[in-house]
Amino acid sequence: MIDVEKIKKDFPILERKVNGKRLVYLDNAATTQKPRQVIDAVVDYYSNYNANVHRGLHTLAEEATIAYDEVRKKVAKFINAKPEEIIFTKNSTEALNLIMYAYGMSNVSAGEKLVTTIMDHHSSFVPLQILAKRKNAKFEIMDVDKEGEIPEKEYEKLENAKIASVVHASNVTGTINDIASMSKIVHEGDGVFIADGSQSVPHMKIDVKKLDIDFLAFTGHKMLAPMGVGVLYGKKELLEKMQPFLYGGDMILEVHEKESKWAEIPAKFEAGTPNVEGVIGLGAAIDYLEKLGMDNVRKHDIAITRYCMDELGKIREVRILGPENPEKRTALVGFEMKGVHPHDIAQVLDSEGIAIRAGHHCAQPLHERAGVIATARASFYIYNSKEDVDALCNALEKAQKLFA
Ligand SMILES: Cc1ncc(COP(=O)(O)O)c(C=O)c1O
Repeated sequence: MIDVEKIKKDFPILERKVNGKRLVYLDNAATTQKPRQVIDAVVDYYSNYNANVHRGLHTLAEEATIAYDEVRKKVAKFINAKPEEIIFTKNSTEALNLIMYAYGMSNVSAGEKLVTTIMDHHSSFVPLQILAKRKNAKFEIMDVDKEGEIPEKEYEKLENAKIASVVHASNVTGTINDIASMSKIVHEGDGVFIADGSQSVPHMKIDVKKLDIDFLAFTGHKMLAPMGVGVLYGKKELLEKMQPFLYGGDMILEVHEKESKWAEIPAKFEAGTPNVEGVIGLGAAIDYLEKLGMDNVRKHDIAITRYCMDELGKIREVRILGPENPEKRTALVGFEMKGVHPHDIAQVLDSEGIAIRAGHHCAQPLHERAGVIATARASFYIYNSKEDVDALCNALEKAQKLFA
């Protein structure tokens, strides 16, 4: 298991007070806080070797380029991919849009089937929906059961799909989808399987080979790294066949008056000056997580989620969303409290120094399906303790009394 008290000391922000109370940060599914090691890596880059990458011949440019490319290797190892299969993007949203444009626009034909799930985040749901409209393709949506899980019967929709895009772990219910089984079905019909790993990669060991997924998107800021850096993993043979998404500097091999040629992957998909500080910070974040061990991170997640579900369950009129078994979910607990609007809950909690999220969490179709406009969500990471859950539950009881 991980040592939460020791970890906490690495996060300067956790020392601050909010509304005179100790900060209890439970909005990790939105973004995580950053350890000193990540902040220091970014400061070190700007203090000692700030330069543009891949273009300069001077010492600083060389050092920045080496550091940038080393992180690509690190990310590749983290998910068991090859370095050239790692494309740095701005975030998951850009990674998912990149696939829909660069792969989807030239491979999907009218009448073909594109499949997602009702629990997918807007960043995967909407680009696929738009692709279907532009290409006159069919857009099918896998549904969920009462526990927020996709029943196996729904998997039939994946048969002969040209593209399926599925969120690995829901940011609303926490449900972890069986993407290995899903990708198998899609591959039997020669389709392509995209996984949105935004809520899973920060929390568990992901092996893209074992899962046999064609593309994986994830976002650095939800795994201790700075904002503005994300990752698209793509199978080499697919990336090589795809046309670029953005054109310009850095992605080019030759440019002539009449024609131009593109660089090899991954440069082909990294046009313009990249977010070097973000990438360096992501490298430090991965080092931090690897040192803890992703299996230990997962164990901690399950333990704290279980504790939160048990304690929340004791509060009158609270309904927890998603699977009952904490082992089937990632480290978040979405919930409703009868008679209290989620925004009011969030406000009362904030006055107690507790940060949670309230709203539709960029997953409006799932909320519509459940017949609710908004839900509240507490989400955890490596620095959260049982005391944080206790603070949440005490404040929720306060909110209940206030609005009852
Ligand atoms: C499941 C899921 N997918 C995608 C995203 C989008 O991430 P980003 O805003 O970093 O692109 C999020 C962010 O909340 C998410 O929870």
